[in-house]
Amino acid sequence: MKTRSSVTVAAVLLSAALLVAPGAATAAGPDGEAGARHGRPLVIAHRGASAYAPENTLAAVDKAHELGIDWVENDVQRTRDGELVVIHDDTLRRTTDAERVFPDRAPWKVEDFTAAEIARLDAGSWFGERWAGARVPTLSQYLRTVEANGQKLLLEIKAPELYPGVEGDILRVLRAEGWLDRSHVARRLVVQSFSADSVRTVHERRPEITTGFLGTPEAADLPGYAAFTDQINPSHTSLTAGQVAAAHRLKGPHGKPLTVHTWTVNDAAGAVRARDLGVDGIITNNPDVVRDALGRAGSG
Ligand code: G3P
Ligand code: CA
Repeated sequence: MKTRSSVTVAAVLLSAALLVAPGAATAAGPDGEAGARHGRPLVIAHRGASAYAPENTLAAVDKAHELGIDWVENDVQRTRDGELVVIHDDTLRRTTDAERVFPDRAPWKVEDFTAAEIARLDAGSWFGERWAGARVPTLSQYLRTVEANGQKLLLEIKAPELYPGVEGDILRVLRAEGWLDRSHVARRLVVQSFSADSVRTVHERRPEITTGFLGTPEAADLPGYAAFTDQINPSHTSLTAGQVAAAHRLKGPHGKPLTVHTWTVNDAAGAVRARDLGVDGIITNNPDVVRDALGRAGSG
């Protein structure tokens, strides 16, 4: 479930958030990479370059790399035997052939299958025959591909209410794969979720990690969020300039202004609109389209 805030008034009062002087610079990435106020918003490939390759597969990561896109977004869930896998839905039905391979296992929930069972599934054919044989990657496999490509990861903890303790599992894998060292944390990793509790848990366990909350909190609630999240990442459908400005006025847990990365913007006009609303990043299935639109808009 996409949970809204459970942030309390007490949390607001305890928040370390500070008002930022109008006009202060914003920082989009973990290391303060250029964002809207410095130029163009970051472009982040949603589920990889998912307009061109099956979402959340290694092929989608490679496709983003081929297009020259540094940032990829993914969705992480947990198998029955505790392996972390990269898949969006909480069932295997839409993006794999689980129904055919395991006809008696309805409703094909990710949490009901072992990693070995999921590794047998075809996660590419649904998207196009040329992708047949693509697999649901484990988080470890996924991180190694992102690493090999020199890319950066916006990791979404998907449906954490289904997987108690998944935050700790994710942190363990990130650590084992070398993604919690200084350079990754400083420049290449953001962890986000629709669950404020999950984001807060990550922040409390590894305060150095840049975090993002997926949603559109009320302005009055933002200071509470700023105690544990660096990014406020709303759907573009409900985005306003006022919301973006309200986030930019607050400092997050790392002492930098909150940043705003909106999703999922897949066309040029939407990209220009989001940029004009002041966002720091755009999450998109069509990263080349968005990048090119921002380039044109920026040069005009
Ligand atoms: O990164 C934001 C976006 O992915 C959230 O929505 O449903 O695609 O995970 P969803
Ligand atoms: Ca996602």
